[in-house]
Amino acid sequence: MPQTRRVSELSEAEAQAELARLAERIANADEAYYRDDAPEISDAEYDQLRARNEAIEKRFPDLVRPDSPSLRVGAPARSGFAKAEHAAPMLSLDNVFSEDELGEFVARLRRFLGLDDGDELAITAEPKIDGLSLSLTYDAGRLVRAATRGDGRIGEDVTANARTLADIPNNLGATGWPGRIEIRGEVFMSHDDFEALNRREAEAGRKTFANPRNAAAGSLRQLDAEITRARPLGFFAYGWAAASESFAPTQTEAIRALGEWGLRTNPLFARHDDVAGLVGAYRRIESKRAELAYDIDGVVYKVDRLDYQERLGMVSRAPRWAVAHKFPAEKATTQLEQIEIQVGRTGTLTPVARLKPVTVGGVVVSNATLHNEDEIARLDVRPGDRVRVQRAGDVIPQVLEVVDADRADRGAPFAMPDECPECGSAAVREFNDKGELDARRRCTGGLICPAQRQERLKHFVSRKGLDIEGLGERQVALFASKGVLSGPQDIFRLRERIEAAGLPDLSQWDGFGELSARNLYQAIEARRSVPFERFLNALGIRHVGEVSSGLFARSFGDWQSFWNTVECAAEAGEGSEAWQDLTSIDGIGAAAAGALVDFARERHNREMLDDLLDAVTVEPAESVARSSPVSGKTIVFTGTLEKMTRDEAKARAVSLGAKVSGSVSARTDYLVAGPGAGSKLRKAEALDVEILSEDDWLDLAGA
Ligand code: IVH
Repeated sequence: MPQTRRVSELSEAEAQAELARLAERIANADEAYYRDDAPEISDAEYDQLRARNEAIEKRFPDLVRPDSPSLRVGAPARSGFAKAEHAAPMLSLDNVFSEDELGEFVARLRRFLGLDDGDELAITAEPKIDGLSLSLTYDAGRLVRAATRGDGRIGEDVTANARTLADIPNNLGATGWPGRIEIRGEVFMSHDDFEALNRREAEAGRKTFANPRNAAAGSLRQLDAEITRARPLGFFAYGWAAASESFAPTQTEAIRALGEWGLRTNPLFARHDDVAGLVGAYRRIESKRAELAYDIDGVVYKVDRLDYQERLGMVSRAPRWAVAHKFPAEKATTQLEQIEIQVGRTGTLTPVARLKPVTVGGVVVSNATLHNEDEIARLDVRPGDRVRVQRAGDVIPQVLEVVDADRADRGAPFAMPDECPECGSAAVREFNDKGELDARRRCTGGLICPAQRQERLKHFVSRKGLDIEGLGERQVALFASKGVLSGPQDIFRLRERIEAAGLPDLSQWDGFGELSARNLYQAIEARRSVPFERFLNALGIRHVGEVSSGLFARSFGDWQSFWNTVECAAEAGEGSEAWQDLTSIDGIGAAAAGALVDFARERHNREMLDDLLDAVTVEPAESVARSSPVSGKTIVFTGTLEKMTRDEAKARAVSLGAKVSGSVSARTDYLVAGPGAGSKLRKAEALDVEILSEDDWLDLAGA
C-alpha cells in the first residue's frame, strides 16, 4: 500500500477506510506467514503496514477496530495437532528501525517509569533468531508440553516433536526452577543442515524449502515425530512466562538460570547501561551475522529489571519493555520481464512483477509485488527495465527503483488494463468518501468473474468459512470447470447438479472413489446448520471478516433480524435508522455497513442468499459476557496521578478493555481526576460524567 498521504492529513472517514484495508491486508499476510509458512509480502513491507496502522490508530484512537492487527498476534492454529492454550499469551515485538528510534524507545521507557536523569536503566541486547517460537511447559522440572505460538493464545501441541531436539531437556537440571513455568525460545535450523536437508529433498524428488526458517517450521510441525527427529533443529531459550514462583530479579539472571537448568541460551546475550552500549551491541551482532551458523534478522533489547518489566506491561500485542531492531533488508538488481495482473477474491487487480531470477540474500527471487497502479506510476517501472529489488526475511520481495530509466530503447509507460483480464468486465477505481480515487482497481464483474467466483468459493469453503472437509481449492476448481459449481448455493445441491449435467456419479470421477464421494457428501450435509458468524464470514463480503461477523452475530443474535436490518438499510440508505443499528455496534464502521448494503443491493447476491438459506440453517449466536468492570467503557484521565504515571494508568485501562480518550464528551463513562484537574473536570461535572479519584480508579482496575 503506497503511503501517499500523511497520517496527519487524513480525515476521519479516510482513516477509517484505511484501517479497514490495513486490517484485511495484515490479516492475510499473517495467515500466509504463520499458518501456511508461505509469506506473501516482505517483512519490511509488513512492518510498514503495521507502523502505518499504529500511527493512524494513535491519531484516531476511537477508530481502533476490534479486529485491529495491533490487538492480535499471528494466525490461528492449523489443524492436525491438538490445540494448546498458553498460560500467558505469546507476544510479538514492536520494531525500531534506526539508532534514533532506539534512543526514543529508551527515553519512552524512562518517562513511563518516571525515572530521573541519574537513575539507572539497564537493558539487554541479544540476536533475534529467525526461526519459529516455541513454548515449553515444565511441571516439577519435567517437560510436559511444547506448543507453537499459533495465534498467540492458542498454538499447536508439538510435544512429541520437541522432545526429539537435543537442545530441549526432558528434565530440568540443577535447582531453583519454579514448580511450573513456560520457557519460551526459538527453534531454528543451521545453514549447513538446511542445505543438506534440501539436497536430500531434491534427490528424493520432493519440494525443497525456500529458507532455513521454513525448513525449521516444516520440520517441527510434522505429524510424525520421527521425521522431526531426522531433521537437525536447534533451540535457543530467550524468555519465560507464567512462572509459579519468581526465580530471578533481572532478565540477565533469569537467562543465566535457564542456562543452568540445561537449556541452550544465546552466547551473544549481554547487558548494557545506556543507549551507546546498545548501539555498540547492535553493531557487534550485525558484524558477526555472516559467520553465525544460523539466521538472525535483528537484535532484541529488553529491560533488565523484571519489576520494571512488570510495570511496563504490554501494549496490544507486544511487551512495552522489549523491542526488536531489525537489520536492513537485502537488495539486488535484475531485469523485470513482465508485469502480470492477478485478480483476487474481492476483485482487486494486483500487478505482479515477473523477474529474471536473481539471488538476494541467498534466496532465488523471481516475483515481486507492485501493489497497484499508483505504485507502478511512482516507480515508473516498465517491462524490460532493470530494477533494484529488496527482500527482507523470506517473503515476496519489493521493487524499489528502476536503475536504467535513462536508456534509449525503453518501452511505453505501463498502463493498467481497464478491463478485468479474467472476465472482461470493466475494472474501475472507486472513489472514497472524500472524492479521491482508491489506489486499487477492481473488477465489477462480481460473481460472473471466474476469478472472483473461484476465490469466493474457495473462501466460502475454507477453514474460516464453512470449513467443509474434502472440499478445498482443488475440488472447487474441478467442480467449477465441470459447470456444476457456480456459487455457494450449488454446494448443497452438488449431487443433483452433477446428475442434471449428465455427468457420471461422483464416485466414478478421477480422483474420487466410493469412500471419498460419500465422505464429501457427508461433510456437506454436516454443514447444513452453520453458526451465524461463520456463515456471514463465509460470504466473503468486503470489510466483513471474521471479527466483524462475530460482532454482528453477538449483537443481533439471529440471522433473520440481522438480515432484515441490512435490507432496510439498503433500502432506506445511509443515516437511516437501520443504518444506525448497524453502525452503532461497537467496532463496526461505515466501511462494513456500506459493504453489506452494497452486497444486499445486488440482485444476484440476494438470489444466491435466498437459495443458500433454503439449503442451510443459520444457528443463532450467544451474546458474550463482559470481562472486566471497565471493558467497553470510555475513560478520560486528567490531573496528576500519584501511584502510577499517566501512561501506566492508560495502559492498564486499555488492557482491561476500556477505551481511553483525551477529551470529555457525553460518551465519556468515567473521568479519573487527580490533583490539579481543571477544565476537563468542570466539563465532566456539567455533563454528569461519573468522576473517580485515583484510588477509586485503582479499585475499579483491581490494582
Ligand atoms: S522476545 C515477550 N527474543 O521474534 C517477548 N523474541 O517478533 C517476545 N524472536 O515471536 C519475544 N529471537 O519468536 C525474543 N531473542 C529473542 C528472539 C525473539 C527471535 C522471535 C520470537 C517472536 C518474534 C517477535
